[in-house]
Amino acid sequence: MRGREVLINLIHSQEALHAGFGGVVPEVAARAHLEKLPALVEAALDRTGARPQDIDLLAVTRGPGLIGCLLVGTGLAEGLAAAWDRPLAGVNHLWGHVYAALLAQPDLEPPLLALVVSGAHSDLVWMPRHGEFEVLGRTRDDAAGEAFDKAARMLGLGYPGGPALDRLARTGDAARQPLPVPALPGLEYSFSGLKTALLYRLRDLGEPISELEKAHLAAAFERSVVESLLAKLETAMRDRRPREVVVCGGVAANTLLRRRAAEVVGDRARLTIPPLALCTDNAAMIAAAAELNPVRPPALADPALTW
Ligand code: KG4
Ligand code: ZN
Repeated sequence: MRGREVLINLIHSQEALHAGFGGVVPEVAARAHLEKLPALVEAALDRTGARPQDIDLLAVTRGPGLIGCLLVGTGLAEGLAAAWDRPLAGVNHLWGHVYAALLAQPDLEPPLLALVVSGAHSDLVWMPRHGEFEVLGRTRDDAAGEAFDKAARMLGLGYPGGPALDRLARTGDAARQPLPVPALPGLEYSFSGLKTALLYRLRDLGEPISELEKAHLAAAFERSVVESLLAKLETAMRDRRPREVVVCGGVAANTLLRRRAAEVVGDRARLTIPPLALCTDNAAMIAAAAELNPVRPPALADPALTW
């Protein structure tokens, strides 16, 4: 990237690789990183015509994430930094999700309030300035993405579940099979009870279940997750009165969440939701967190385990 302009953002999807297992197998994922990463770096240089000496800064994810994949990534990045004599920044994956929003909105700067929703996180964070994050609320059990993936599996939608559930929900009516909206006090989330509610509903309905009934359940599950996420965002907005609100992370690709977030935030703040390709994990967001943060992250201190 150059400034906020993304020159290239390559992804090698491992979806097909893990689909047969019904989820990500850490060992398989790490091996695939080892096989595919060098070719991706070469392709990025080829397609942009950039030479190593044109690069001002290399950035790599240092966590949180699957340790095998992180080690492959950081090993390659350290090797390239040494071979090309370029500086290296070790970026927090979660910071990357927030900085993706800065790529989507040319004049977006902190302070901002962010709802970060991914496969492993459902966090409400206050970012007063670059490189500073205060967690206001998080999940007590499952993350929103994890809940979507598990619900999708219960509905027989396979892997990856979130996008499949999103598609199916578009054809259903949430009111036909209503599920409870989780509501813990404060700014905490919990999705395990909702998951159990879906499990019991499926058991009560018995087999076989029609495609239409499945779609109603998908829509109801999606509505409960989305309304729960946005209820806490709303509370945090009342507390902090932000001018900028960001919704980001893989789950921010969800159709209903995108639409309802716009309605809930309304004109009280400016809402930025990155385009789909910048919501789900990608390289550009990691580059952005290194490049757009004037407090340059250190190369590779300890692996980041959380914010
Ligand atoms: O941020 P991300 O790409 O990876 C992690 O850092 O975890 O988020 C992946 C999560 C998965 O749980 C996936 O099912 C969910 O985001 N996801 C979605 C949608 N697209 C991806 N969930 C609901 N609706 C979607 N359209
Ligand atoms: Zn992520």
